[in-house]
Amino acid sequence: MSPPRKLHIKSYGCQMNVYDAQRMVDTLAPEGFVETASVGDADLVILNTCHIREKAAEKVYSELGRLRLAREDAARNGRDLNIVVAGCVAQAEGDEIIRRAPVVDVVVGPQSYHNLPRLLARARSEGRAIDTEFPVEDKFAALPPPSRQAIRARGVSAFVTVQEGCDKFCTFCVVPYTRGAEASRPVARILDDARRLADNGVREITLIGQNVNAYHGDGPDGRTWSLGKLLYRLAEIPGIARIRYSTNHPRDVDDELIAAHRDLPALMPFVHLPVQSGSDRILAAMNRKHTADEYRHVIARFREARADIAFSSDFIVGFPGESEEDFKATLALVEQIGYASAYSFKYSPRPGTPAADMREMVAAATMDERLARLQDLIDRQQHAFNRAAIGTTVDVLFERAARNEGQIVGRTAYLQPAHVMASEDIIGEVRPVTLDSLERYSLLGRLATASPRARASASTGA
Ligand code: SAH
Ligand code: SF4
Ligand code: F3S
Repeated sequence: MSPPRKLHIKSYGCQMNVYDAQRMVDTLAPEGFVETASVGDADLVILNTCHIREKAAEKVYSELGRLRLAREDAARNGRDLNIVVAGCVAQAEGDEIIRRAPVVDVVVGPQSYHNLPRLLARARSEGRAIDTEFPVEDKFAALPPPSRQAIRARGVSAFVTVQEGCDKFCTFCVVPYTRGAEASRPVARILDDARRLADNGVREITLIGQNVNAYHGDGPDGRTWSLGKLLYRLAEIPGIARIRYSTNHPRDVDDELIAAHRDLPALMPFVHLPVQSGSDRILAAMNRKHTADEYRHVIARFREARADIAFSSDFIVGFPGESEEDFKATLALVEQIGYASAYSFKYSPRPGTPAADMREMVAAATMDERLARLQDLIDRQQHAFNRAAIGTTVDVLFERAARNEGQIVGRTAYLQPAHVMASEDIIGEVRPVTLDSLERYSLLGRLATASPRARASASTGA
């Protein structure tokens, strides 16, 4: 048997890309590829790219410059190094990549990576291969399932893609163009994936999609299932102690999803609900299809269903035409909601999107200043949220040994990292922890005596 070939994969962008990277590894495993952490000993490097903002997209070209040198090094040592560009830049700029970077062997879009073995073979015979189609065939059905080993190596928390693409067409966003139209996977396949993960030690599942709460998959009963309905069924799988889902659009929050938060203890009370802006004028220009008040109302419905629920969000500052007054409306919304954490970005015009043609650009210095003000407010909220946990006893799902010797690190319901001194036996268990202090973004604590509820979830998790 020939020795295994080594694959190095570097992923940018969102959690969909993290998931896709794992699936590319699964696709290439039967071809004899094993993963390596360094470019230096790789036979194949895959850049899994993101096109969401200009900076993200430009990273690809600087990375390809470095890879050209790595390829020359490899050649000097008598080795081949193949280079693949995958992900959303591949989809959006495939031809430009080929033109600007002759070092690339294969360009493959997010809907076609199940074809990687075929594309690599074609590149070997023809020099290069490109596939940025939106195929009618079902990518997920064509992918080999991850091996037991792969699942175990990836730890106790796993992503499952349930939905892909987006039909919302926010005026700033490339996702509808790079990922295509919204499509949901059938319920039965998702349940199969989740059972397989649970059988191999996974305790937490995060359902992911560009717009996961727009999920509408074919159910085993012949009806279309919503995300809420899917969550109820997933919560019945033995071994799954925690369920999350991300990312969401405020317009697609329905009663069943709210009810799931009321009824399912396994559904974590932490929801990523991007709003982008607090100004109705800007929300309209963004084509978000909701007002700030409608967003507040959605938040209120979640809170009514589950008092301990917390939120994170995404914001864009400096969208074309954003005035100081518009921006203040964003700050006011943040003040009012009170987030556990949030991401904020300066608006970046993306070729081909409607907002890229809007002329009232906000000055760069104004954008910088607004971003700093918003991030300062978000940081203060996050810090207050984390500090409020000190002195409480909460459930933590333990994930891995920490860098500090003897410490095990896990996450609270709100994804806050929590460290305790304990044996590695607790990895994969949900245990109550009394939180004593906060160091930057990490909580430090000690294992507490199990409360009845925690004992129940720890035993299903063991
Ligand atoms: N489907 C998700 C968004 C995915 S993109 C949703 O609707 O929320 C992740 C985030 O990147 C967005 O929420 C937005 O805040 C940011 N983003 C998207 N396009 C951008 C652009 N052109 N400039 C700056 N930020 C952008
Ligand atoms: Fe982009 Fe809007 Fe779709 Fe989110 S909802 S992926 S921001 S178009
Ligand atoms: Fe980026 Fe594509 Fe995700 S553009 S954010 S990798 S969907």
